[in-house]
Amino acid sequence: MKIKIAVVGLGIGKMHIKYYKQIPDVEIVGAVDTNPEVLKQVSNEFNIRSFPSVDDLLSETRPDGVSICTPPGSHLALTRIFAKHGIHILCEKPMAPKISDCRKMIDICEKNKVYLMIGFKKRFSPTYKFLKEKFEGDFGLPKWTLARFALGRVEKEWFWDENDGGGPIRENTVHMIDLLCFLLGKVKRVYAEGGNLFMPEFSPQIDTAIFTLRFENGSIAGVGAGYASEWRFAKEQVTFVTEKVICEVIGSFDNPRNIQYIYRNNPSQVFEKYFEQPDGFFEEIEHFVDCIKNNTRPAVGGEEGLYALKVCEAVKKSVFKRRPISF
Ligand SMILES: NC(=O)c1ccc[n+]([C@@H]2O[C@H](COP(=O)([O-])OP(=O)(O)OC[C@H]3O[C@@H](n4cnc5c(N)ncnc54)[C@H](O)[C@@H]3O)[C@@H](O)[C@H]2O)c1
Repeated sequence: MKIKIAVVGLGIGKMHIKYYKQIPDVEIVGAVDTNPEVLKQVSNEFNIRSFPSVDDLLSETRPDGVSICTPPGSHLALTRIFAKHGIHILCEKPMAPKISDCRKMIDICEKNKVYLMIGFKKRFSPTYKFLKEKFEGDFGLPKWTLARFALGRVEKEWFWDENDGGGPIRENTVHMIDLLCFLLGKVKRVYAEGGNLFMPEFSPQIDTAIFTLRFENGSIAGVGAGYASEWRFAKEQVTFVTEKVICEVIGSFDNPRNIQYIYRNNPSQVFEKYFEQPDGFFEEIEHFVDCIKNNTRPAVGGEEGLYALKVCEAVKKSVFKRRPISF
């Protein structure tokens, strides 16, 4: 029997639809968007049923799972509706604007016995999966990490709204923060310098930051993030240094295609790896479907979504308070 899926919010939701369509076990039973033009365009493009509201969707069909791809300010309300109908949830990052909302989302899903997965695609990226295995194997864990993860201009109002996207650090850097937590563990202390350096006309929101993270395992990381690039030029570059290895991930933003690494005891030999489709998006969608099919808990859920949000908020707090924030 096919796994029935619905997608709500058809911005990045279109990408979810594209990947669900590549999985033979999936039937997309509906797409929802409050914008009629977007709804029509997507329904024509993918030849799927469309609904102007979640109520309309649920009055006509009962999906097994849903992708919630609306701005974060609506994630809690939508989670509540779908969980109460017993529908498993893949919710886009950031999980919600407030930590208390994240906690409510976790509790609602637990209570209604549905899975809540958060769309941290980098955890599923073949590039970072390869590194995770190596760090737990012959590379050893990184002690020093430096990430450059600056994005281009975004002018969507919700993106900047503190009660919704919360600006680039919450809305986007959350991907890198979750990835670093995935690879390095829990954060002990955050120190950030930042501010609204480039988009003061949009909101008082922090648009850029450079911050350090000290992890509980003693490892340290530095991250440069926010609106410090332009889309066609934006890069994803992360250097990891372990006792044995120096390793660089190099790619365009969200496409960490290349890895170069050397062993410290043989630095003249440079190893290289190339990943054709490195973003992890398809693998994330496939994992959600597998969890529904096999009745298994997603590898990344609400607790990870909440934790990453906590770190993002600590970065912003550190900028405002001009001091390190300890966990
Ligand atoms: N994982 C990724 O790489 C990635 C990339 C982009 C966006 N996102 C996340 O996806 C979410 C949406 O971002 P976006 O860039 O697609 O935003 P967007 O503004 O481009 O699109 C959102 C769509 O949702 C619709 N919508 C809003 N509220 C709705 C509601 N209550 N019910 C139904 N439809 C509703 C809007 O009409 C719009 O078409 C955000 O949380 C964002 O962080 C993730």
